[in-house]
Amino acid sequence: MSAVEYRTVEHDVLVIGAGGAGLRAAIEASGRGTSVGVVCKSLLGKAHTVMAEGGLAAAMANVDDRDSWRVHFADTMRGGQYLNNWTMARLHAQQAPDRVRELEAWGALFDRTRDGRILQRNFGGHKYPRLAHVGDRTGLEMIRTLQDHGIHQGITFHMECTVVELLKDGGRIAGAVGYDRERGRFIVWRAPAVILATGGIGRAYAITSNSWEYTGDGHALAYRAGADLKDMEFVQFHPTGMVWPPSVRGILVTEGVRGEGGVLRNREGRRFMFDDIPDLYRNQTASDPEEGWRYVTGDRNANRPPELLTRDHVARCIVREIREGRGSPHGGVFLDIAWIREKIPDAAEHIRKKLPSMYHQFKELAGVDITKEPMEVGPTTHYVMGGVDVDGETQMTSVPGLFAAGEVAAGLHGANRLGGNSLSDLLVFGKLAGEHAAAWAKAHASPAIDQGQVDAAHATALAPLERQSGENPYTIQHDLQAMMQDKVGIVRTEREMTQAIDAIATLTARSARAKADGHREYNPGWHTAQDLRNLLTVSEAVARAALDRRESRGAHFREDCPEKDAGHGKHNTIVRQGADGSMHIERRPIPPMPEDLADIIREMA
Ligand code: FUM
Repeated sequence: MSAVEYRTVEHDVLVIGAGGAGLRAAIEASGRGTSVGVVCKSLLGKAHTVMAEGGLAAAMANVDDRDSWRVHFADTMRGGQYLNNWTMARLHAQQAPDRVRELEAWGALFDRTRDGRILQRNFGGHKYPRLAHVGDRTGLEMIRTLQDHGIHQGITFHMECTVVELLKDGGRIAGAVGYDRERGRFIVWRAPAVILATGGIGRAYAITSNSWEYTGDGHALAYRAGADLKDMEFVQFHPTGMVWPPSVRGILVTEGVRGEGGVLRNREGRRFMFDDIPDLYRNQTASDPEEGWRYVTGDRNANRPPELLTRDHVARCIVREIREGRGSPHGGVFLDIAWIREKIPDAAEHIRKKLPSMYHQFKELAGVDITKEPMEVGPTTHYVMGGVDVDGETQMTSVPGLFAAGEVAAGLHGANRLGGNSLSDLLVFGKLAGEHAAAWAKAHASPAIDQGQVDAAHATALAPLERQSGENPYTIQHDLQAMMQDKVGIVRTEREMTQAIDAIATLTARSARAKADGHREYNPGWHTAQDLRNLLTVSEAVARAALDRRESRGAHFREDCPEKDAGHGKHNTIVRQGADGSMHIERRPIPPMPEDLADIIREMA
């Protein structure tokens, strides 16, 4: 008999998270005849998915008929610096166009070409215009469509619930324990298949585009349940977040602004992206770098400016300008779309049509009219390429019955994600996870629930309320975010990584003594104590993996090892919990790519 009251809910497939991946997985599993429950921390419709504003990458070749899944595959692998799971990169490139067409059939509205096809725009690292979009509200449109479709398919939603632990029956997954955030009533979800779709870890940092839910819950739940985490050192800092006013610092400024012609300038008015063109694109003989760029990229119309190089590169160039004193007044650089007045007669209307959210965001929050003035922008923590290690075809983790899809899963993006590849990732791998989880649930009997595990989860969750005294969890969370921003950010060193690991140990000890005042009802301090546990786990994973990778690759830049290292380029970093509860790092060799895929890479190079 348990000391704490709870109710038990049964599903064939339990999906944790209701962003694009969670909803797509739920739709698939339910369409295959299984009973599906979706648990989300927030209200349905609120997910970081809406922050992928600029579009969804799929080689539909509507704007440039040279595009194909092969080019998309090669772009994704090059962007990821070849650490990607090549099976996932292939499946993603092959299946994304069908997932976009399916979304349209379910009611999503896209911007159109003159002849009525889905319009596609340029984005960083994509060779051809590839992002199907709805102005700068693509993620929102996607969530709206999936949500409508899912609700009409009879999926059960458990909104505003926090999951505190996964449950296991022997080695396999058995469900999860959590509570409803309003009243603090505990729930056990029993399910033979569980899909993690909890998104990212952005809230481990002080400056982030992520909303409050993104505290690495799925990563930490999987890690504690015995699954491997992979490539956690690769955290993406989107080059353009708002920097002013302070209350909105970090909010995303879509890459779509640059896709529509926006350019980056420093305080001297110089387009500094021309100062650091990677060798691949540099014309060694041209005296004018701008001319050289156009010559090498074959882009005489300047549709693919260096502002659309990969995000890791653009973010580092921005940091360099700021560090060297050429930044904007509030510690960023300038992003100018208003200059297109020189090219387009009705530029103001064009900007308001293609970038309506950006127009309103800057007008309302910063008092800036982007049709007339430049924006101030700087890097913001946006995405984690690392995550739960999954099988590339089924999305199952090393824990039988536990699946992961979307940002919480590792593999597709390698060392750096191309913009727009996240929305297509959610659809492609959400669908595959739903399909395989449904098959697993049909093939396996309902698991047994171990009361000891349930009691232990309740005791851990309730501990911050039951202490007589202790530190406020908010203070610890705040200190963690400031430390991660400072020590494990865009530019890293061994010394800082070591300091970060020490700091995390101190913060973990402080969190073990955290006290949330009040009781279980309507208690945000108590919820923060749960988040903190997960944030500390993912922060440690990022810092340890970053310490181990003694090279610079993709989003991971080590000032003390600024070059790529061939040896490090052959392995993924695995993070695993040891039997003693401590965190271990292992280097796992990347399996050789099959010849047909290697041929594509050679051909595209
Ligand atoms: O800039 C953006 O609109 C973000 C897109 C993405 O992260 O994929």
